[in-house]
Amino acid sequence: MRNNSFATKGDAVIVTGAAGGIGSATVENLVKQGIFVIAVDKNGDALSKTCKSINPDGKLIEVITADLTSEQDCQAICEQVKSKSIRLKGLVNNAAVGAFNMSVESTSFADWQRIIAINLTSLYLMAKYSIPLIRSAGGGAIVNISSIHAYATSTGVAPYASAKGAVLTLTKTMALDLAPDKIRVVCIIPGATDTPMLRQHAEREGKSLAELGFPPGDSAIGRIAQPEEVADVIAFALSKGASFITGSSIIPDGGILAKF
Ligand SMILES: NC(=O)c1ccc[n+]([C@@H]2O[C@H](COP(=O)([O-])OP(=O)(O)OC[C@H]3O[C@@H](n4cnc5c(N)ncnc54)[C@H](O)[C@@H]3O)[C@@H](O)[C@H]2O)c1
Repeated sequence: MRNNSFATKGDAVIVTGAAGGIGSATVENLVKQGIFVIAVDKNGDALSKTCKSINPDGKLIEVITADLTSEQDCQAICEQVKSKSIRLKGLVNNAAVGAFNMSVESTSFADWQRIIAINLTSLYLMAKYSIPLIRSAGGGAIVNISSIHAYATSTGVAPYASAKGAVLTLTKTMALDLAPDKIRVVCIIPGATDTPMLRQHAEREGKSLAELGFPPGDSAIGRIAQPEEVADVIAFALSKGASFITGSSIIPDGGILAKF
């Protein structure tokens, strides 16, 4: 039996959008495996609170408050990792904002740019500045979080779905560019997941998740995912067990995309 654990204890992974939802579940999963996590989020208070509850003595988490739409912040995160001589073996590009009721016509140019900046450009920026560190650690994996909206979508998500579609394509081209460096790049396509993103959407609409069509009645499993179920897939994508997966997607969607 092969040892499929992610990496040697003490190796590190950057997780963005780590204050809650899928990001914090991923931090918890990795820390439980003894992996050192650099947890990044714009919401510093929530991030500190979350990380303290996952790892009270702080030995396995470095907390960094940053706005990932800023090139300067992305560069500074990676410089901080480098200055601490941490062996960076992975990056989970998870941070994003939800954006609903937004058709092309109703979306202001400023909103379009804001959503693309966090949901697409930040993945490019974090990869750009992390790649030299992962390369010098002998390779590793980058996991980009997309969405089922990359494959099949709905009304009112023009900027969100556009960014998520581009994340899928970005994953493919990065995988080809980085294969010589032994860096795998994997896309995760979650379906609806019970996180602050979805709950805040329901609050704004003044409706329950069920009234908004969650869980989608047409999915095979018939419920929404728990963030831990998506985090398990992210951890797998980082692990040695996924050593032959690059440039492609893993789809924890409860079977929603299986149906017309
Ligand atoms: N929840 C779902 O139903 C669902 C479904 C498919 C895909 N996804 C994707 O999964 C990922 C995680 O989503 P989630 O549901 O856990 O969301 P969430 O809103 O619960 O968490 C996202 C985190 O990103 C952070 N963030 C946002 N903008 C930032 C910025 N500029 N700089 C730094 N941090 C920033 C937020 O503060 C937040 O903590 C996202 O990429 C999302 O698009 C979610």
